[in-house]
Amino acid sequence: MKRKKKINIAIVGLGNIGSYLYRYLLKNKNEFVKKTNTIPNIIAVSAKNKLKKRKFKIPKSKWVKNYLDITKNKNVDIIVELIGGSEGPAKKLIFSALKNKKNVVTANKALIAKYGDKLGKIAEENKVSLEFEAAVCGGVPIIKSLKEGLIANSISKIYGIFNGTSNFILTLMDKNNIEFTDALKKAQNLGYAESNPKSDLDGDDVASKLKILTALSFNCFINNKDISVEGINKVDRADINNANLLGYKVKLLGVSRIKDKKVLQRVNPCLIKKSSYIANINGVLNAVIINGRPVGETVIQGEGAGPEATTSALVSDISSILKGNRRLPFVISNKKRKKIYFENINNEKFSAYLRIDVKDKHGVLSDITKTMARNKVSIKRLIQNPYKSKKYSSIVIVTHEAKDEFLNKTIKQLSKRSYLKEKPKFFRIERI
Ligand SMILES: NC(=O)c1ccc[n+]([C@@H]2O[C@H](COP(=O)([O-])OP(=O)(O)OC[C@H]3O[C@@H](n4cnc5c(N)ncnc54)[C@H](OP(=O)(O)O)[C@@H]3O)[C@@H](O)[C@H]2O)c1
Repeated sequence: MKRKKKINIAIVGLGNIGSYLYRYLLKNKNEFVKKTNTIPNIIAVSAKNKLKKRKFKIPKSKWVKNYLDITKNKNVDIIVELIGGSEGPAKKLIFSALKNKKNVVTANKALIAKYGDKLGKIAEENKVSLEFEAAVCGGVPIIKSLKEGLIANSISKIYGIFNGTSNFILTLMDKNNIEFTDALKKAQNLGYAESNPKSDLDGDDVASKLKILTALSFNCFINNKDISVEGINKVDRADINNANLLGYKVKLLGVSRIKDKKVLQRVNPCLIKKSSYIANINGVLNAVIINGRPVGETVIQGEGAGPEATTSALVSDISSILKGNRRLPFVISNKKRKKIYFENINNEKFSAYLRIDVKDKHGVLSDITKTMARNKVSIKRLIQNPYKSKKYSSIVIVTHEAKDEFLNKTIKQLSKRSYLKEKPKFFRIERI
């Protein structure tokens, strides 16, 4: 019988994800051998602090002091980068690994979103793999679906919930009727939000994932410039309650679509009809919806983050390489990827939800409606709720469809009024 080939793997970064992956690979080695017909061998590991107490023992022989030495080790076949961050050590490691003809697996969305095009080109030139399933939506196999399962399709739209932390917070605010800061605290106590959750809350994490999905869906280069990004940090309990009364749920969506050869990518919290599929994706779950021809609509849902789900994706990438499947990082050759025109959100039309909390005095409502009319924004529905103190009232408006530019202009002008209690809120209503 032919002897099984041994494949040497190095793991750099032994935090949340790296330490889980390390233990998983050791525990499930036999399964691997059966499924891939190769022997996965962890030959080297590295992290920042050798003296740090870890949940498991690392044989001295495997520990590499300078992680960059791993990229020059002739015996290493696959390097798994689990440091994180778009610059610094993770960047140095992946560039050096690919230049030294090592296969790379990473969960680093920030780095792939920023340098994916350059890295993909180096990987292709050096005939090695660069795999990043774990970088987008954790355990949801969206990258492989786009590269393989859905390869026959011309994709027109890809959208969904790509951030488990923000979805967990929005779900908690809704179910427990609590404010954003209280929901964030609870998410942090449960380990769903990092101590610095900035990129989860300001939409940047979703933006990185969306840029990668856009490039894969439309065979274009990653576009970091033309993307409109808003996070959930401006959603209040009052907005969630109002949305419920109007028949909607508030969700943070990443949306990318192509129309007339122009791509629009955007990340924003929005109101979605309660009856829609996506409005019912709750907690830390992620969901991706793809519209393509000839397949129609495809939906993939699953755990978006955490060591278990992320390891599932990392192992899928490692297995592909173990089996000898070298795929181009962005499906098609770098030479054939297109420069596509990306359009601005300004001309896109939306119906919108506005909440304007004002001092309850004569002439306010008339000023609001006149300002809207001047900006070509018309009212579909208006509800005025007095505050208990009667000094203020909350005016909730659902608009007819209007250009995004005009909706923003309206909010900008209204934000300057002296009768405001707080800055007006504006969320788009999705046509889903
Ligand atoms: N956490 C999740 O749920 C999740 C989900 C999907 C994707 N990801 C991605 O997975 C990656 C890792 O995330 P994580 O949560 O595991 O991060 P983490 O817990 O902060 O771990 C980072 C690891 O990198 C090591 N490190 C930092 N600086 C280094 C350096 N200069 N040289 C060598 N090693 C260095 C750290 O070493 P020490 O241990 O010595 O400090 C630590 O082991 C990130 O790209 C993240 O975006 C995470």
